[in-house]
Amino acid sequence: MLSNVVASSMDLHAQYGGVVPEIAARSHIEAIMPVIQEALDTAFPALAGKRDEQWKQIDAIAVTYGAGLGGSLLIGVLTARSLAIAYDKPLYAINHVEGHLYANFLTSTSLPGYVLPSQQPEFPVLGLIVSGGHSQLVYFRSHFDYKLLGQTNDDAIGEAFDKVAKILGLPYPGGPSVSKKALKGGPLAFQLPKAKMPGKYDFSFSGLKTAVLRLAQEQVGEDFTYPSSALPGRLSDKQKADIAASFQRVAVETVVDKTVMAYEEFKPKTVIIGGGVASSPELRRQLSERLPLPITYTDPKLCTDNGAMIATLGCFKVVNGQPAADPYTLNIAPNLSM
Ligand code: KG4
Ligand code: ZN
Repeated sequence: MLSNVVASSMDLHAQYGGVVPEIAARSHIEAIMPVIQEALDTAFPALAGKRDEQWKQIDAIAVTYGAGLGGSLLIGVLTARSLAIAYDKPLYAINHVEGHLYANFLTSTSLPGYVLPSQQPEFPVLGLIVSGGHSQLVYFRSHFDYKLLGQTNDDAIGEAFDKVAKILGLPYPGGPSVSKKALKGGPLAFQLPKAKMPGKYDFSFSGLKTAVLRLAQEQVGEDFTYPSSALPGRLSDKQKADIAASFQRVAVETVVDKTVMAYEEFKPKTVIIGGGVASSPELRRQLSERLPLPITYTDPKLCTDNGAMIATLGCFKVVNGQPAADPYTLNIAPNLSM
């Protein structure tokens, strides 16, 4: 990894308490060319300012074409297509969700401030993807040969963290703020339900989110008609911390239970996790405690959305002779699944 430049519109989203698709797309338009240039300057500092020389160092371009928000994907894909044509580079279309797991295949960098695993995961690999848009368990026999074991039937786990943060009046993004609040609360303070799913490896988080809302209403002595927007002002700090800790325990246990079950059934050589929620210290703690094999985690900066994970999967596609995309026709796929 020679560079990993991330432009985040998180500050803008925080003002609205979540991602507004039009604002996200507009930020992408503004950020994309400066980000690409900064990435090239970081990777090839001796060639700073010599754009054509920098591009000569590049073998291929990888771009996310799904899953994600249409407007944002479109900016990325159209930019990558244009650059691939202008600089005559092969173009690789990457599945964002699959990309999250490839963050674990990065083992060396010239960049300061990253702690990476020393070895690449050994196949067969069991992968758990936990992000704002996805919760999935995937079994990889080898690169590009995988089976989706299960996924969420409604909300993703990160989405549940974000919604619970809103109920408690904690800032967006909800994952890190619920995590922080939970440190001061009791994980066993409240009993919250774990969803029972018909699919062995499927998840559900919408019932848990509703249970948190009911619990918060009950705690302030109101019924289910009480507006959630008024709850943060009525809940004490202790109640918020206890609700955050109890929710986090159950949400994390839900994915850890199924990961342990899948480990026992498929006996993979390695278990890896990816997606924003993979940076959760509670998830890492529970997994390390309950899995009977040593598990390594990558740097939290590579768990939330980033370009390095997409480039890494692109690299494996090149090396393994996977087909390149047509830069004249590649389209976005907002609902792409694994
Ligand atoms: O993978 P990601 O950056 O974007 C998507 O592809 O969705 O994941 C973002 C999600 C958000 O829902 C955020 O609240 C969650 O990851 N997240 C966390 C933590 N850090 C980020 N959830 C729980 N604990 C964390 N420490
Ligand atoms: Zn993501």
